Amino acid sequence: MAGNIFGKRFRVTTFGESHGKALGVVIDGCPAGLSLSEQDIQPYMDRRKPGQNLHTTQRKEDDSIEILSGVFEGRTTGTPIAIMVRNADQRSKDYSELAHVFRPGHADFGFYEKYGFRDYRGGGRSSGRETLARVAAGAVAAKILSELDITVDAEVTELAGIDVTTPAGREAANDRILALREEKDSAGGVVTCFVNNMPTGIGEPVFDKLDAMLAHAIMSIGAVKAVEIGDGTKVSRALGSEDNDGFESVVLEDLDLTEDEDEEAADGDDADSGEDNDESGMAEIQMTSNHAGGILGGMSDGAEIVLRAYFKPTPSIAKPQQTANEDGENITIEIKGRHDPTVVERACVVVECMTAITILDALMDNMTAQMDYLRTIYQ
Ligand SMILES: Cc1cc2nc3c(=O)[nH]c(=O)nc-3n(C[C@H](O)[C@H](O)[C@H](O)COP(=O)(O)O)c2cc1C
Repeated sequence: MAGNIFGKRFRVTTFGESHGKALGVVIDGCPAGLSLSEQDIQPYMDRRKPGQNLHTTQRKEDDSIEILSGVFEGRTTGTPIAIMVRNADQRSKDYSELAHVFRPGHADFGFYEKYGFRDYRGGGRSSGRETLARVAAGAVAAKILSELDITVDAEVTELAGIDVTTPAGREAANDRILALREEKDSAGGVVTCFVNNMPTGIGEPVFDKLDAMLAHAIMSIGAVKAVEIGDGTKVSRALGSEDNDGFESVVLEDLDLTEDEDEEAADGDDADSGEDNDESGMAEIQMTSNHAGGILGGMSDGAEIVLRAYFKPTPSIAKPQQTANEDGENITIEIKGRHDPTVVERACVVVECMTAITILDALMDNMTAQMDYLRTIYQ
């Protein structure tokens, strides 16, 4: 089975199935010297855990991580970092009834046709549990990004078709999701992710555009059916005059500078992309709007990166469904087990982590973009 590796420089390989002995990730390409311990990663894992609110399955998953390699005396050594989570609450018997059934909305039929044999326990490799490994790697990526002052934050913005960015919306969505649980049904939603303090020019045209890489990363998460950057699908109905983001040259004195930036400006530091340090003073090119969502021509444009991931309803529902089995019989199934009426809240951190991995990988790729970068390191 190919397709378990993501990233070029910060390379992430995930392994494991939902009911196997363990799941995990090997990170290749993490720079040496990063202070790293289990405590940096565990809070991210806990955000993904089930059983945290009424919407999520009461299935008990401890999800304690172990760093197996790549860290010595609290710092990364530059060697592969292996992180593992043992599967504690396996309960395969919940799934034995479904061993030869193709569950609607799941990967069962594809796995059966592709390999002729499948691990039917809880979706095996295509289980939402696989995302644990991505979250572990994403926590490491986010830690590196935070040292560069780049932040990645995701939040649930829509649940069951209801805008949840206000307390009233959250309450309405909560009621709706609880009602759906009673009805043995499920709902989808939207996660919005923001990347701030992103340097300009990051992303590799043409095949590895930053938006293309982000779409790859996010669409690889189970249950994601669409990804938008900036205004997304709305742009097809906008006019050019509405959609174009203007550029504006702003003299640094006019900006609301922090103390540090003030000092940098006084020192004539022109390392930042887009700055023009001539005699008349420094200017910075900024965007006057952000319909593009921070990415133009496949490269970051310095504005906030705004990405939305659209999730489908949880496919495992207890409501009776028509389907077929491996013997070619048409049957009715009622999925037992324990499943979330929506996966969106638990998937939120997965979106954040896949974004962090992608952004870090693109930043690392950019380190060979100019001769000056190589001279800075090697001369
Ligand atoms: C964090 C997370 C948790 C998930 N949990 C469940 C679950 O408990 N039950 C379920 O039926 N699907 C769950 N899914 C979704 C399925 O894994 C996914 O829909 C299925 O493998 C089919 O793949 P596709 O929807 O990407 O086509 C979860 C997804 C994520 C990202």
